[in-house]
Amino acid sequence: MRTKFLFNIILAVTAVIVFGCEKKNTATAQESEVKEKKEMSITKETFGKMPDGQEITLYTLTNPNGIKAKIMNYGATLVSLETPDRDGKVTDITLGFDTLDGYLTEHPYFGVIVGRYANRIGKGRFMLDGVEYKLATNNGPNHLHGGIKGFDKVVWKVDDVKANDDTAAVKLSYLSKNGEEGYPGNLTCSVIYTLTKDNKLRIDYEAKTDKTTVVNMTNHAYWNLAGQGSGDILGHELMLNADKYTPVDEGLIPTGEIKDVKDSPMDFTKPMTIGSRIDQVTGGYDHNYVLNSGGGKLALAARVYEPTTGRVMEIYTTEPGIQFYSGNFLDGSITGKSGKVYKKHYGFCLETQHFPDSPNKPKFPSVVLKPGEKYTTVTVHKFSTK
Ligand code: GLA
Repeated sequence: MRTKFLFNIILAVTAVIVFGCEKKNTATAQESEVKEKKEMSITKETFGKMPDGQEITLYTLTNPNGIKAKIMNYGATLVSLETPDRDGKVTDITLGFDTLDGYLTEHPYFGVIVGRYANRIGKGRFMLDGVEYKLATNNGPNHLHGGIKGFDKVVWKVDDVKANDDTAAVKLSYLSKNGEEGYPGNLTCSVIYTLTKDNKLRIDYEAKTDKTTVVNMTNHAYWNLAGQGSGDILGHELMLNADKYTPVDEGLIPTGEIKDVKDSPMDFTKPMTIGSRIDQVTGGYDHNYVLNSGGGKLALAARVYEPTTGRVMEIYTTEPGIQFYSGNFLDGSITGKSGKVYKKHYGFCLETQHFPDSPNKPKFPSVVLKPGEKYTTVTVHKFSTK
């Protein structure tokens, strides 16, 4: 397995290098420049070392239109995403750190893959097949984002790295052992990040178990379409394709009710700036929206537009829900990339997911995965400008 993976990396990296060299021999320097820009490519570099000496690798996926996605295998993290604005100026639009060391400190899930269960499970307990499972509690009395050492804090295996004419992709996998953070079943999961020629970043999630369990994976990128660290996101215009949301109690656990957003500050069915009514929402937005698609098919969930740079991000997902979090807990205590200080509302998250606390809410779409079944979900981020 390890040999195969090493072979694939060598193959991918060599392909990029060799392809470039060949062209220089057959075309003028200018022509080869143009041709190179038309290609998808992947490069890799060492991002840092874990305390035990394990090397962490950073993969840079590039498309011909100036989009660059950087992914590392610690936490299967999206480290940065650079896109051009309406004038072609390229900027990183995700919050995070310049070095691995930053990610090894306590941070609020910048760009990571969250699992086994993204979001909260009330009291860190649930029943499955008549057995009560007790999970690690790391958010007051509740379980949040997979527990104390969730999928964001483990080293993922790199299974495949490949680029072709239209896509560049990295596949990462992780085996979450039976009992990890209290969950039943050995869960083999994988995440594939694919950058496409037509400006999409696609994330495919897969998992299989050997014992009935619950699964809910997501990516926790913090976005600021004006550029990371450039200010707050309150002027971004947001549209959520959701007529309903799941109200929460004071511990941010859904009450079980599914409520209309109509005539409330929760309504983003028509584009509204994030800041327009945020003062009317206690603590800011940190809610699960019930997508109109119902889940199961890839459908538009959200569209965000940043007026000063013209950047637009659309999110399509097969998931039934999306957590809209307005960066309420950012408080200026974290210094991120390029020395930028991340203050309140400096980034927002749109985490595609099943609803929080579903294992305890029989009326919510099921998150149960049984042996022999395959968990598959897809989320696509599409970037453009206007
Ligand atoms: C999620 C949660 C928030 C918060 C952040 C991380 O979005 O819903 O309440 O925990 O992650 O700070």
